[in-house]
Amino acid sequence: MTLTPKTAFLGAGNMAGALIGGLTAGDAALGGARVWATDPRAERRLELEEAHGIKTGVDNAEAARWADIVVLAVKPQVLGAVLGDLEGQLGAKHLVISVAAGVSIRAIEAKLGPARVIRAMPNTPALVGAGATAFARGPRATSADAAAARDLFESVGVVLEVEEDRLDAVTGLSGSGPAYVFRLVEGMVAGGIAAGLTDDDATLLAVQTVAGAARLLRESTDTPARLREKVTSPGGTTQAGLDHLAAHDFHETVKGAVTAATERSVELGKEIAESIR
Ligand SMILES: NC(=O)c1ccc[n+]([C@@H]2O[C@H](COP(=O)([O-])OP(=O)(O)OC[C@H]3O[C@@H](n4cnc5c(N)ncnc54)[C@H](OP(=O)(O)O)[C@@H]3O)[C@@H](O)[C@H]2O)c1
Repeated sequence: MTLTPKTAFLGAGNMAGALIGGLTAGDAALGGARVWATDPRAERRLELEEAHGIKTGVDNAEAARWADIVVLAVKPQVLGAVLGDLEGQLGAKHLVISVAAGVSIRAIEAKLGPARVIRAMPNTPALVGAGATAFARGPRATSADAAAARDLFESVGVVLEVEEDRLDAVTGLSGSGPAYVFRLVEGMVAGGIAAGLTDDDATLLAVQTVAGAARLLRESTDTPARLREKVTSPGGTTQAGLDHLAAHDFHETVKGAVTAATERSVELGKEIAESIR
């Protein structure tokens, strides 16, 4: 059995909470004792202590010194201040894993000196253990560091390693993607209601349809296009629905949403780089 590394989460909000849950789920007694989370909110600290048996506090530098892995899990706007807390505190043992959207490895290294840095982009389904995370290694991060990052994010879903310049695309696809699916479900529910179903019934059916289709996509060896073709009889009901989607450029619209979010990620990254310099 490998010993869980000592992990400090600086910022204990939604994403840190999901990761702490994943990390401690396998071995609560061992895991909890090896996790320390900092957050300004006393009630949040108490909640995490009670739920996961972890150590909490408000001193970022103290938690970081204790840890082997320091997870930067504050909002990007606060990251500059947190990196300031860490100046001169990190040594050779430390791996820094940032989940802050849009903040480059270079910007983090500029504040922390010769640190081993990994930058990751998880998504909200991590909150229910069904996340999709992509991560990129900084120049000093080792294969063992990449394996540690993989272990952390695999505790809440699937993990992919990419080059850092792909993280904007990851943000546009899987980072922002859950919201596209939520919007799709909103439309399906509205359509169900317009066709005579109650709100509750339409919601139940729409959510299960998306969850079931996702499971089928994952478990089938067919491509999404082939699965679509298999359920579409010429002249049938599904064909009528798909024709309507095609007439409104559904495919191009969704593709364009990923592109727009990717481009926004690039812009935000530049703005954030300016703000934490
Ligand atoms: N949620 C997602 O799906 C998602 C996906 C990908 C990446 N991310 C990234 O994950 C990071 C955290 O996002 P989140 O959704 O978990 O945000 P969040 O819920 O707001 O969590 C951030 C936490 O950090 C605390 N905090 C503020 N200043 C601090 C400081 N100086 N030291 C320590 N903690 C401090 C905040 O406390 P207060 O509330 O009191 O300020 C808050 O509890 C962000 O950088 C985001 O870009 C999130």
